[in-house]
Amino acid sequence: MIFYAIRGATTVEENTPQQILTRTTTLLETIIERNCIDYKDIVSIIFTGTKDLDAQYPAVAARQMGMVDIPLFCCQEMYVKGSLERCIRVLMHIQVSEPKDVKHVYLEKAKVLRPDLADEILTIAIDGPAGAGKSTIAKAISKTLNILYLDTGAMYRAVAYKMLKSNIDLNDHQKVVNVLNKTDLQVRYDHGKQKIIMDGKDVTSLIRTTEVSQAASKVATIPEIRLKLVDIQRNIASKNSLVMDGRDIGTYVLPNASFKFYLTASLDERAKRRWLEMKANGVEQNIESIRQSIHERDINDQNRSFAPLKQAEDAIVIDSTDKSIEQVTNEILGHIRGSLRKG
Ligand code: DC
Repeated sequence: MIFYAIRGATTVEENTPQQILTRTTTLLETIIERNCIDYKDIVSIIFTGTKDLDAQYPAVAARQMGMVDIPLFCCQEMYVKGSLERCIRVLMHIQVSEPKDVKHVYLEKAKVLRPDLADEILTIAIDGPAGAGKSTIAKAISKTLNILYLDTGAMYRAVAYKMLKSNIDLNDHQKVVNVLNKTDLQVRYDHGKQKIIMDGKDVTSLIRTTEVSQAASKVATIPEIRLKLVDIQRNIASKNSLVMDGRDIGTYVLPNASFKFYLTASLDERAKRRWLEMKANGVEQNIESIRQSIHERDINDQNRSFAPLKQAEDAIVIDSTDKSIEQVTNEILGHIRGSLRKG
């Protein structure tokens, strides 16, 4: 026999016996349906309720469904300040003879507990200029929410890298497009980490030079290049909950993203961050030349005619100049969690 534990959670709007019973019934029915469980497979079920629920034991719902012989146990969920209110959690143990893929179930406002398991795809767009901290913040958010992180800048960098390696004149747009059309560019995930594979070679670590940064900003002005990369980006977003960062995510790639943020910081601060980052990687560069290079990229990115860098009208703007990584991450998570709870 093989044992599995299945998690689930739901919420109620009111602390009434009727709501607790109906929402718990729906939760149990959904777990049973999605996991093709027979009552005889269920070993036991533990229920918890948050401290604001005392109108009924959720286990009563299971008894009313006919689970008369199954050991059930109700207890109070540990209270953590700021945690989800009026929430019922379930831990169901089953034993079966064949291995199966277990599906955990999060309903109502409890979806916020595990956005990675929610039925709807969660898309978080983070746009902003170079050095604003997008990738650091996006990585932290993807880790906390257990969803993918797609760094779209890495895709433009990979194209630029290919053009530099092939000695293509970046001003010859047709040539750049022709070369890209013959290039196999893939985004893959290895243990949750994004990898850029070009013509079968992993170029992820080769695209972080200043030369590639400048060239990426140039190739990113070519509409045909953007269309091709946007197609790959949308395709990944159609199948996965993710955080995507770039310049045009909220305005063009994912206009219907679940959440949009525009992250910015002063030019001096962004130059300082890049300088510190390079120094930490053993690369000494004059801060003024970094500042100049970021400024040039800002101008390129903001003034191209097709999908330029700009703040989406419905994006939440965060200026990270005087904020730590942790502060910005918590601010963004606060917006996401607050809104999912209300939804
Ligand atoms: O975020 P980054 O520095 O890795 O991006 C490299 C360049 O790619 C940047 O100058 C602009 C361009 N880019 C873009 O035009 N659109 C995106 N969605 C991402 C990056």
